[in-house]
Amino acid sequence: VSDGRVGIALAGFGYWGPNLARNVVACQDTKLVAICDRDPDRRALASRLHPSVAVVSDWSEALTAPDVEAAVIATPVASHLALAELAIDAEKHLLIEKPLAATAEDARRLVAAAHARNLALMVDHTFLYTGAVRRLREIVGSGELGELRFFDSTRVSLGLIQSDVSALWDLAVHDLTILEYVTGRWPTAASATGAQHDPSPQPSCAFVTLYYDDTFIAHVNVNWLSPVKIRRTLVCGNQKMAVLDDLESSEKLKVYDAGYDAVSTAAAADEHVGPPPVRRRVGDVWSPLVDDREALLVEIAAFATYVRGGEVPHNDGRSGVAIIEILEAAAVSMALRGEPVEITYR
Ligand SMILES: NC(=O)c1ccc[n+]([C@@H]2O[C@H](COP(=O)([O-])OP(=O)(O)OC[C@H]3O[C@@H](n4cnc5c(N)ncnc54)[C@H](O)[C@@H]3O)[C@@H](O)[C@H]2O)c1
Repeated sequence: VSDGRVGIALAGFGYWGPNLARNVVACQDTKLVAICDRDPDRRALASRLHPSVAVVSDWSEALTAPDVEAAVIATPVASHLALAELAIDAEKHLLIEKPLAATAEDARRLVAAAHARNLALMVDHTFLYTGAVRRLREIVGSGELGELRFFDSTRVSLGLIQSDVSALWDLAVHDLTILEYVTGRWPTAASATGAQHDPSPQPSCAFVTLYYDDTFIAHVNVNWLSPVKIRRTLVCGNQKMAVLDDLESSEKLKVYDAGYDAVSTAAAADEHVGPPPVRRRVGDVWSPLVDDREALLVEIAAFATYVRGGEVPHNDGRSGVAIIEILEAAAVSMALRGEPVEITYR
């Protein structure tokens, strides 16, 4: 492209697509060239919001618009595979919405096809680009919390009910990506429960427990039928604990200097008659400053860097596949009413 910006064709201008379009326009390294949606009303809106962009109903036409180097796919999950395969055939780099595909097998197929053509493939795991999650990863990585004990994340609201995917597939992706990004660890088994409730055609709530090869444990609670909106993640270490509340406008992240300290047996003998020889510590609470730039803008800049041969992002195709491998194990476990299912990463 003459001006060096990555030219982008976007598929899907429903709920999420307009946010991607707006940030592709805002990012100095990308240029929005074409928008494709099969719904005429969405196309009319796209033309109003982006009058200089080609707005079409046919994805192949969008991909062949002049200067298109990359495809961004924001259509329902079931269509990701077919639209992404067309883009790969047309030699376009890819940024695909979460979850990458409807099955791990489809996702692996896409990753292999993109790899074979030397194309960048990134999955929109948006939360990895929020200032609060990035700061939480730094804090955990520095060892400040000590040895991690558990992770507990709640994402519930009277949300947008999806017809093609369950609340597990739609919402838990966010918590699972945050969990892995912050801890750097992949679970070995999943135990999940959940149920379907009208009007949701698919399971509308899910409670997922994830096991690791030591005593660290994670839990994710998602649904779209809750009267109150909660977006809260607790990371507990043996030294300190961190709470991320995404609904807070400021102070999204708080670190608690709290826990139980072992006391020497001599002191313990003075203070206690019997066990436990520990002392409860309730110390300072501090709220680290976090970058408040819009996550999608930071992410799209990272995508442009990746397309140009720069740093491979954390949320590349391989990580998109692994997240789906966790979701699949959880879905099998849910059908077995919580029986733990080993997660196989291939
Ligand atoms: N990263 C996030 O935080 C986030 C948030 C919301 C949705 N999403 C993801 O974005 C994707 C889309 O979700 P949504 O809520 O915007 O869905 P949506 O149903 O609101 O929008 C999808 C749009 O795609 C269009 N479409 C469907 N099939 C098409 C096709 N074959 N060709 C062209 N256009 C087609 C539809 O007409 C619709 O306008 C999903 O993968 C979802 O998981 C991500």
